[in-house]
Amino acid sequence: MKKLIALIALLAWVPHHALAQDAEAGRKKAEACAACHGIDGNSTVPQYPVLASQTARYIYLQLRDFKRGRREDPLMSPMAANLSKEDMLDLAAYYASQKFNGQNSRKTDGDIERGRAASDAALCTMCHLGGFSGQNEVPRLAGQHYEYTLKQLNDFKVKNRTNDAGNMTAVVRTISDEDLAAIAAYISILR
Ligand code: HEC
Ligand code: HEC
Repeated sequence: MKKLIALIALLAWVPHHALAQDAEAGRKKAEACAACHGIDGNSTVPQYPVLASQTARYIYLQLRDFKRGRREDPLMSPMAANLSKEDMLDLAAYYASQKFNGQNSRKTDGDIERGRAASDAALCTMCHLGGFSGQNEVPRLAGQHYEYTLKQLNDFKVKNRTNDAGNMTAVVRTISDEDLAAIAAYISILR
């Protein structure tokens, strides 16, 4: 009997949690975000990150961090303030399921080769994976706006952004500003 109750409890639990991440519900909720991030997460403004094809886990964690004040931005923090956990999971599932359209802001006159060499030397892809395609809580960076990526790298360097459990602030500490700009340019042309 105890086993049966445990089984029923498990069955009741599984669909409930599967429903908790609902991309269709997220599509509707994302209307509030479209003015800055684009309707499908393909933002056209270089200061607003592309969210299309970003990993769901990373998007969820960032929304949670903005809400808790662990990451701060005058435009973004108020947008996360009233989201429930379910909202965040739905939004994350929605953007993760959208296709990156390749229309991001690129810096093609940057020193791409220098950026590639500097990111190889710093072993960035050990965490971000080959082609900076991302996994779980480590974000996809390929095709992110040049300006946004460079701002984040600088924010980590001067510790304006510290919600990274030390992963990023430690890596960029010893990288020159010129190399960071070259890395952001290299990342912006990846697909
Ligand atoms: C008024 C413009 C604006 C609106 C509206 C807005 N955002 Fe943002 N969002 C930003 C900016 C700016 C940043 C980058 C902040 C920074 O530079 O650190 C950002 C960052 C993010 C990030 C972090 C992405 C990353 O790569 O780290 C996520 C996730 C996000 N927004 C989701 C949302 C969601 C979901 C909504 C709607 C509920 C929303 N945003 C509405 C401006 C906006
Ligand atoms: C030890 C693992 C690790 C290494 C090595 C690493 N990263 Fe990261 N990176 C992370 C994690 C984890 C995050 C997400 C931090 C958070 O949750 O706020 C991140 C976030 C970022 C972001 C912010 C993305 C966004 O959308 O806001 C950028 C940009 C970035 N990394 C670039 C790099 C570059 C360039 C290198 C190499 C110079 C590098 N990373 C090396 C783990 C790593």
